[in-house]
Amino acid sequence: MNAPDQYGVVGHPINHSWSPFIHGMFAKQTQQFLVYRLYDIGPEDFRAQVLEFFTRGGRGLNVTVPHKEAAADLANELTDRADRAGAVNTLTVTSEHTLVGDNTDGHGLVTDLQQNLGLAVTNDRILILGAGGATRGVVAPLLALGPTELVIANRTPERAVNLASLFSDLGNVHGCGFEDVGDEPFDIVINATAAGLTGSVPNVDGTVIASHTVCYDMSYSKAATPFVSWALEQGCARAHKGWGMLVEQAAEAFTLWRGVRPETEPVLTALGIK
Ligand code: ATR
Repeated sequence: MNAPDQYGVVGHPINHSWSPFIHGMFAKQTQQFLVYRLYDIGPEDFRAQVLEFFTRGGRGLNVTVPHKEAAADLANELTDRADRAGAVNTLTVTSEHTLVGDNTDGHGLVTDLQQNLGLAVTNDRILILGAGGATRGVVAPLLALGPTELVIANRTPERAVNLASLFSDLGNVHGCGFEDVGDEPFDIVINATAAGLTGSVPNVDGTVIASHTVCYDMSYSKAATPFVSWALEQGCARAHKGWGMLVEQAAEAFTLWRGVRPETEPVLTALGIK
């Protein structure tokens, strides 16, 4: 019998990842013969270990914190959306041994917001907190939905200003510090900072949230995240964790790898989200 095709996710730390569970469900549903493993690899070993994975016949890797920008450097070719983001979350080797980097994070967020959560996004004012790799992947797909304004606010304001300037040809986007977001509440507030990893919340004023505001935390955990708890305390309409984005970005990666699109609803149900 042939060996299963090898896939996995590389990150550091990685032990909390739900990706093996999600891809395992996709594989069963679509009857694909594959294994999907966790690879905990630090920045110093990233390049060598990833190349070894593919040299040994591995077919594809998801890439997560802190390697998304290093993966963009490593890839031989980038898709347009990965090139625009300057960050890669999906690596695939072609039959010609070309390592292609793609970014399915934006697709994951937008699909979750629109299809799973029923938000239009068009003509909304959006605030995104954070200006790191997580934000990079989602700015262009969010602007493609036609919000009236997208504000990127960050603890280090220059990073937000610089990031916004890379996307200014795509829509009304600007960057600033947390204290300069203005008094007007937003329709959607997205947390893309790493603040939750240390149990904290970005230091932005609660006036960005009104009773109609939908809040979204790109982080996920079984318990409420600090940002979701804070957003509910501010009286937002609803606050979501990033499980849907995780599942939808995985489905897009799986489709790239296997040429068959898995249904996400059974996975969302299994995770207790739907
Ligand atoms: P990632 O790839 O996950 O986005 P990153 O590039 O290290 O990781 O970016 C982390 C983001 O979280 C940054 O926007 C960071 O703000 P700075 O640019 O000022 O460092 C933000 N961040 C991390 N801890 C934070 C905290 N406690 N409060 C607010 N923002 C925080």
